Amino acid sequence: MITVVLGLQFGDEGKGKITDFLTSHYQVAVRFSGGNNAGHTVVVDGKKYKFRLISSGSLQSETVILGNGMVIEPFALLEEIDTLRESKGKAKIRISKMAHVVTPMHKFLDVKEEEVRGKLSLGTTAQGIGPTYEDKYARTGIRMADLLDPEIIRQKIETIYMMKQSLLADSEFADSKRREQIVRDLFEAGKKLEPYLEYTEVTLRRLYDSGKSIIFEGAQATMLDIDFGMYPFVTSSNAVAGAISTGAGFPFRKVDYVLGVAKAYMSKVGAGPFPTEMLGKEADDLRELAGEYGTATGRPRRVGWLDLPMLKYTTALNDVDGIALTRLDTLGDLDRIKVCTSYRRDGKELDYIPRSFKDMEGLDLVYTEFDSWGKIDHEIIKQDKYQALPQNLRNYISLIEKELGIPVDVLSLGEGRENTLIRDKSRLKDQY
Ligand code: GDP
Ligand code: IMO
Ligand code: MG
Repeated sequence: MITVVLGLQFGDEGKGKITDFLTSHYQVAVRFSGGNNAGHTVVVDGKKYKFRLISSGSLQSETVILGNGMVIEPFALLEEIDTLRESKGKAKIRISKMAHVVTPMHKFLDVKEEEVRGKLSLGTTAQGIGPTYEDKYARTGIRMADLLDPEIIRQKIETIYMMKQSLLADSEFADSKRREQIVRDLFEAGKKLEPYLEYTEVTLRRLYDSGKSIIFEGAQATMLDIDFGMYPFVTSSNAVAGAISTGAGFPFRKVDYVLGVAKAYMSKVGAGPFPTEMLGKEADDLRELAGEYGTATGRPRRVGWLDLPMLKYTTALNDVDGIALTRLDTLGDLDRIKVCTSYRRDGKELDYIPRSFKDMEGLDLVYTEFDSWGKIDHEIIKQDKYQALPQNLRNYISLIEKELGIPVDVLSLGEGRENTLIRDKSRLKDQY
């Protein structure tokens, strides 16, 4: 079974939780995009695990792969490997030699570029993601395999410095001794990471050929995708399902099941259009109730109502087979629940998602309302008794399924691994 788990909104949908939950049925877990801009939370027996670079599948899989499409901060990765070992995660770690390396210079540039953008700054995670992908596409980037040769690191650091000198001139990086320090630090990190480095697309193919089940864990989300998101308020990589081909070297035709993760309301960190955003007290109340603060940065997340036109778009783009709907417990705590069912302009329904502030002008959002459903009995969840869930909750799920024409296969009703209900086990193919 080959499965892709990915975000259908603006990130933080609960991809980590869902990936961990499913991974007991998979031997291999793969990240194929992004870097430590991602923050994926898993809660097992009340213990919280936060994954940034390593897949959230690492608690239950045999092997985890960090694919070539990723941008990796080596020092952060070494820390995360240590943390995983302390948490008794035994998964074998394999890192693509072709993944790109985030250096302290890239992190500095991330902040500097935001300053230059001024009013168009997007509120990045300041992890150096954008500048590292810039170097990848400028063909000046440092790859993981380069970390094994100090001369290559030096050449590349100098090239990047020369190319970005206008932004680096007044910084600590103008000092050649500081740059030399980076070379030494990266080489040191490289020596520690060498045992993990491989051509992981070859590893992945071998594992596939030997019959292993593989789960791909998306990072960021479709509306943050560099091409299809709310550009320029996006990340610098592709976050759609198809990115497993370029980001892990795994053929997309082999995928059996695409599981799109959506939060039952929505959240967004950073700037940019957010059509169903709540404002004022309504937003503050939900943010506090849900503890909506970024896993990666601690920033308060913007919150809004579920946007079905957006989900129609993102499920189609990713050819989603089933939906995992998270945070249904949080939504059940509200008095009234709203869902956006269409975007209209001059009374006519739009069949696309506007992607710029200009296109957003004059837009009317149509909402439907639901009564709340309150707390859910945990016995119902444990026994996967969908029919025993409150009628109001089932009405809400029915509307989503009717509008999208896609089943809600997984319901998440709490942060813990055990608070997850599978609607119909036969839908998840031969794994259940
Ligand atoms: P990711 O980036 O998509 O993996 O999501 P994050 O981990 O950044 O953010 C999701 C947050 O919601 C985390 O704090 C999770 O522990 C939490 N979470 C996920 N699913 C549920 C759920 O169904 N109910 C509740 N209460 N919390 C959830
Ligand atoms: P996970 O995988 C939520 C957002 C940032 C910013 C924009 C660009 O945990 O869902 P970047 O640092 O990537 O250049 O920032 O993208 N962003 C995320 N928002 N969840 C994430 O990842 C995100 N990764 C990036 O807030 O608006
Ligand atoms: Mg997150």
